[in-house]
Amino acid sequence: MTADALHSQIAYYRARAGEYDEWFYRRGRYDRGPDDNAAWFAEAAEVMQALHNIGPVGSALELACGTGIWTRELVQIATSVTALDAAPEMLALNAQNVPDPRVTRAQADLFTWEPDAQFDLVFFSFWLSHVPRERCGEFLSRAVRAARPGGRIFIVDSLADAASSAANHATHDPAGTFHERKLNDGRAFTIVKVFYDPAEIASSLAALGFAAEGHRTARFFWWATGIKAVA
Ligand SMILES: C[S@@+](CC[C@H](N)C(=O)[O-])C[C@H]1O[C@@H](n2cnc3c(N)ncnc32)[C@H](O)[C@@H]1O
Repeated sequence: MTADALHSQIAYYRARAGEYDEWFYRRGRYDRGPDDNAAWFAEAAEVMQALHNIGPVGSALELACGTGIWTRELVQIATSVTALDAAPEMLALNAQNVPDPRVTRAQADLFTWEPDAQFDLVFFSFWLSHVPRERCGEFLSRAVRAARPGGRIFIVDSLADAASSAANHATHDPAGTFHERKLNDGRAFTIVKVFYDPAEIASSLAALGFAAEGHRTARFFWWATGIKAVA
């Protein structure tokens, strides 16, 4: 089941690339009305501010970069960004949306990717929730190898709020792993969506040699940050 879901979620994001931003900008099926939308945007701004507060940095690595919603923020604090994603459609939109020559993009499957360089900042947004629990520790241990000693990690992801997803998605079992997602044309895919606890992720980062903290916004997001020990 897990291997199928990992393939299915790549197929899902490839097919969804052109409509992906509707989720973050609360359009169409993701428009949950003025109150929920206002809370969403305020909380997203809170996380973006936390990211800006760590800057400026030198090189940044963005894993599962998507259409560039956060690449756009990273170029404001980093001197260069290396952006990886499995979906060529996402990488193409990222290039279109963030036409900055300081961004280098490459296709990579993060379940087999091995870091071959170290960066001042390793960043991933709304990616870790697509990593099944049984692979989370292994994935994090690879991801942190891409941070230089003294470098940082910043992770942002979803809390389990019913208004986070599309109005026509089934209500989440917050403890579940596999969830159904639909495209605007009604096609359905099974994906992994795990609602990690930021304190648990901060503990994992601490075990991997980071001084780390986990935070949550009121309803929608969590983030974890850490600085890698020097030697
Ligand atoms: C929820 S989106 C997040 C995109 C972006 N980080 C953001 O916050 O807007 C998840 C991203 O993971 C990518 N993805 C899915 N499976 C992947 C895999 N195995 N390896 C690398 N990227 C993958 C998708 O193409 C998609 O861009």
